[in-house]
Formats: sequence, structure tokens, C-alpha cells
Amino acid sequence: MFILIYLIVILIFDECYCDIQVSIDKLKGEYNIIVNNRLWLRSSNIRLYTDNKWLTSKDGSLHLIDSSLKQGFGLRLGYWNQREFIYNFNSKNEKSLNITTSIRQWKSIPAAITFHFHSGSTDLNNNIELDMDQIRTVFSSFNIEKLGKDDHRAYLTFGGMMMGDLEKHAGIWNSESRFLKGGISGGPLILFNSTENGQRDSIIISPFEQFMSTSLTINKQILEYGFLGSIKSLPINSTNSLIIYYSSKGINQLMEEWGKTMQKTFNRTNQYRLNDLTINYLGYYTDNGAYYYYNTESNMNYQQTIVKIKENLSIPIHYIQLDSWWYYKGLGNGVKQWISRPDIFPDGLQGLNKKLNSFPLAAHNRYWSSDTIYSDKYHFIIDNFNLKSLPLGNDSFWIDLFKNSTKDFNLILYEQDWMNHQTIDFSPINKDISIGRQWLISMGYAANLFNINIQYCMSLPRHALQALEINRVTQARVSDDYYVHIQRDNPQWNIGITSMLANAIG
Ligand SMILES: *[C@@H]1O[C@H](CO)[C@@H](O)[C@H](O)[C@H]1NC(C)=O
Ligand SMILES: *[C@@H]1O[C@H](CO)[C@@H](O)[C@H](O)[C@H]1NC(C)=O
Ligand SMILES: *[C@@H]1O[C@H](CO)[C@@H](O)[C@H](O)[C@H]1NC(C)=O
Ligand SMILES: *[C@@H]1O[C@H](CO)[C@@H](O)[C@H](O)[C@H]1NC(C)=O
Ligand SMILES: *[C@@H]1O[C@H](CO)[C@@H](O)[C@H](O)[C@H]1NC(C)=O
Ligand SMILES: *[C@@H]1O[C@H](CO)[C@@H](O)[C@H](O)[C@H]1NC(C)=O
Ligand SMILES: *[C@@H]1O[C@H](CO)[C@@H](O)[C@H](O)[C@H]1NC(C)=O
Repeated sequence: MFILIYLIVILIFDECYCDIQVSIDKLKGEYNIIVNNRLWLRSSNIRLYTDNKWLTSKDGSLHLIDSSLKQGFGLRLGYWNQREFIYNFNSKNEKSLNITTSIRQWKSIPAAITFHFHSGSTDLNNNIELDMDQIRTVFSSFNIEKLGKDDHRAYLTFGGMMMGDLEKHAGIWNSESRFLKGGISGGPLILFNSTENGQRDSIIISPFEQFMSTSLTINKQILEYGFLGSIKSLPINSTNSLIIYYSSKGINQLMEEWGKTMQKTFNRTNQYRLNDLTINYLGYYTDNGAYYYYNTESNMNYQQTIVKIKENLSIPIHYIQLDSWWYYKGLGNGVKQWISRPDIFPDGLQGLNKKLNSFPLAAHNRYWSSDTIYSDKYHFIIDNFNLKSLPLGNDSFWIDLFKNSTKDFNLILYEQDWMNHQTIDFSPINKDISIGRQWLISMGYAANLFNINIQYCMSLPRHALQALEINRVTQARVSDDYYVHIQRDNPQWNIGITSMLANAIG
């Protein structure tokens, strides 16, 4: 065991029912997380990459100059109490600058501790950026280590597409843990006591805001949280935060309780999920692996085929999903124009709608191509290298897109697919602090105006977390395409683990 000679300042309210505790060395800025009276996490250094160089609390280039206790009140979660630290550093032109970090406890959520970073009174810029899988601000950070020989803790991480399902991983928590997934395609991390089979003490470590522009990463044997390394400029007063949530009742319960807190934090309502026709009833999909995926009945076009599907089926389907085969593609196989092609639907979606008697449809979309026709009329940011683009600026594009579509057909579900590619292989999103969030918020805002729900597909954990702010996102795929499962002989319905995450978020 480690010998801890600590000046312990446990942040407590007059009466503390804290299930999880933090002990803080206010002189050194170090902090430990204590779960059920046992040490679970020891902090590592605070670091900052700015003016193309690293500053760290370890060598004093980030210098702790002040520490204080503060109290406050948040609209959604109520009273909090925090220990705040100010770190000082000299910028390129020898200007003295501060960053602020704080460790917070909330009266209404004794099972949580949150960590907050504030970038201070000037923009922090780089012209040599780090990789998108790295981070450029490091707070907070924890050693990945076994704490004593009777410490049998294990981890579970989400990673990769389908909401973190495809590269999820579990293993033993010690300094040799190699498969932890971090960076742009990583997600929340769960730590549990494997002696108790994950059925008792467990914690989840997750971003608490800025889901599109922050990551958890693994740097040697340290778990670190902060803004993406590829972001060029951190504007004045940039903030991010991390939450550690505890449950004594096992991983399932942990996820549910954490999810409730996250939903409360963003005032999410589940009314759209609960009333979503596509969740409550059977639908007919034409996705990869379905018979009508880029395939029609012989001697029929797609319009005739879809009409026939509806007429022929004796099971009570309530909607039909149109996969990526119906719209115009451009460079890099992205979407050029999200309207139907005459070779697919000769009478347009309007004509199809008439023949279907306004039967509800779910419509697929992918990333925008760099030669999208919409960039003539709307503000798009173009990435010519990756052949992709994205609407930017204000909500008018998404409003017009859904307005035009709902005029033509009964669109009840918008499926945004290829989200990992629109994010990873599209540099404007990973170089900017706000574009990623704005993309999804604008889409959700417009969908709400036209009573459309949204499905995320090929989403990363960060997209799913971002949906906490977007009530209209009622679902996300948590397994790969049917076709891929057949081809690789993977079990299609092994979705229990990632479903915990999907269900927790809302
Ligand atoms: C940094 O923090 C110290 C201590 O609170 C304060 O006196 C100083 O004015 C701050 N400097 C800047 C540039 O904000
Ligand atoms: C894990 O659980 C066992 C049994 O309850 C306990 O003895 C052990 O100390 C726990 N380990 C940690 C790191 O909490
Ligand atoms: C940054 O925050 C400070 C302190 O909260 C505030 O006075 C200042 O107006 C903010 N600046 C900007 C540009 O938001
Ligand atoms: C939360 O959202 C509801 C609508 O779902 C709204 O009526 C309410 O004002 C919101 N509350 C806060 C604190 O933002
Ligand atoms: C409709 O039913 C007929 C008769 O059973 C069958 O030949 C045809 O393939 C079906 N078409 C579609 C599109 O399901
Ligand atoms: C939003 O964008 C559209 C199209 O680019 C433009 O016509 C409109 O003036 C913009 N609205 C605002 C409020 O910026
Ligand atoms: C919506 O329809 C109008 C009228 O046809 C067209 O000018 C505009 O480009 C369309 N916008 C979108 C985003 O579909």
C-alpha cells in the first residue's frame, strides 16, 4: 500500500452522505478518489499544450499559485462546493497567464465528483497541432495502477463505431493494461471490483460536457481528460468537465444512475423516445443485408418495389426505411443532394408518398460530399482533402432540408449514418472547439420543428453523449450491419453491454 501523508481536506457539506470521497492536498494540488473507504484513484499531473509546447505542473512550468474553497448553485443540479486551484504560466511573449481547475461535489448527487477546467483570459493557440487522438489540456488525470496485491479491479471501455460497441474492451486494471480505448473514438470508462464480479463497487469516468471536443486518452500509464489535441485555438473562457460517478450496486445500476444524472444535467426529456412509432412498432428496413438493399424486384423499379412491399407484407409494419440507395452521391461517395433520383423513384418521393397513402418513412443520410449542391446557397465548410463538407453558420440549412422533405413525404425518422467518418475524416470538426456540437444541435433543432425523430448510426460514444442535449435523438444503432454479421459470422444480437450505455443516455 502507498503511505499517504496527506493534508486531507475532504470537500463536504455540513452533513455529508458522500458515497464517493475525494481527498485533496491543497498545497500540491494532488487528489485521491476514495470508494467505500478504499483508495481507487491517485491523480497525476496537470498539463497544457500551448504556443506549440507542453507546460506541466510536474516541472513547475505550470505553477500552482492559489487555492480556495468556493460554493455555488447550478440551475439543474443545485448547490455545489468546490476546491479551486489557479495555475500560472508564461506565454510565448512572457505574458503571465492563469488556468483554473476545480474539483466539485454536489449536494443533490452525493455519488458524483466533477472536475472542471477553465482556460482563462486569453485565446490559447498552436500552429503545430497535436493528433486528434491526443489531448492538449490535461485535467484531470489518474494513474492506471494496481493499488496493493489484493486489488482485483477491472475496466470496461467503449470505443469505435456503433456507439462504442465495435471496439469495446474489458480487462484487468493495472499498469500493464494495454487495450484501453481512448482518443477520438473512445468513450466513457467503467472501473469495477472483479472480486465482486462487477456487482457491487463500480465507477464510471465520463466527459460531463463538451462531448464533441474533449476526450479521455491513455498516455503511458495515465488516464487523462481534456480538449482534443487537434483543436487549433481554445477561445477565452473555454471550459470542460469530467464526472466520476459511483454505485455500490453494480455496473447496470451504475449506468442507470449516471444516466439519470446526465439527463438531469441537460434537462433531457424521453417523451420522444417513449412515443416514437419506429421504436414501438415493427418497421421494414432496406439496410445492408436486407433483400432490397441496392436491389429491386426483377422487372420493377424501386418505386414499384416499395409499394409492393407494403401491399404484400402480412405482418403489421408501421413504417419503411429507405437506405442509402435513393439520393444523389457526389465526390467520395458523400451526399450531393438529398432528394430522390428519377431512376429510383420516377414520380419522386411525392409520387411514392401518394401511392403509399402517406405511409411513414424513415430516411437514411450519410456525410456531405465536398461537391454538394447545397454549398451554392447555404454556408458549408468544405474539406477538399477528405472530399467532405458540413453545413455551418446557422440553422437555416437543416430547417429547409426538413421543410422540403416533409412537404414531399411522411418523414418520421431521419437516420444520420456514417457519423464516425463525418467526424474523424473531416478535419474542420476535429480542429475546432464548437463545429461538432453545432452540427448535431442544428440538426436536432430543425428536426424538432418538423416533428421528426433522429437515429444515429456508425456513431462514436461522443455523438451518443452529445445526444443528451438533443431530445429528438431517440435511438442509435449498437451493432454492425446484418450483412457484416453474416459475412464474418459474428453474433448479431450481442448488444447487451452497449445497450446499457444507449439506455442510460435516453
Ligand atoms: C492569476 O491569478 C492570480 C491569483 O488569483 C491573480 O492575482 C492574477 O491577477 C491572475 N492573473 C491573470 C492574468 O488573470
Ligand atoms: C473488492 O471487493 C472485495 C470483497 O468485497 C474487498 O475485499 C476488496 O478490498 C475490494 N477491492 C477494492 C479495490 O475495492
Ligand atoms: C471571461 O470570463 C470573465 C470572468 O468570468 C468575464 O469577465 C469575461 O467577460 C469573459 N470574457 C469573454 C470574452 O467571454
Ligand atoms: C426543462 O425542459 C422542459 C421541457 O421539456 C422545460 O419546460 C423546462 O423549463 C426546462 N427546465 C430547465 C431548468 O431548463
Ligand atoms: C409480392 O407477392 C408476390 C406473390 O406472392 C411475390 O411473387 C412477389 O415477389 C412479392 N413482391 C414483393 C415486392 O414482396
Ligand atoms: C442564415 O443563413 C442563411 C443562408 O446562408 C442566410 O440567408 C440568413 O440570413 C442567415 N441568418 C442569420 C440569422 O444569420
Ligand atoms: C428547399 O427547396 C427550395 C425550393 O425548391 C430550394 O431552393 C432549396 O435549395 C431547398 N433547400 C434544401 C436544404 O433542401
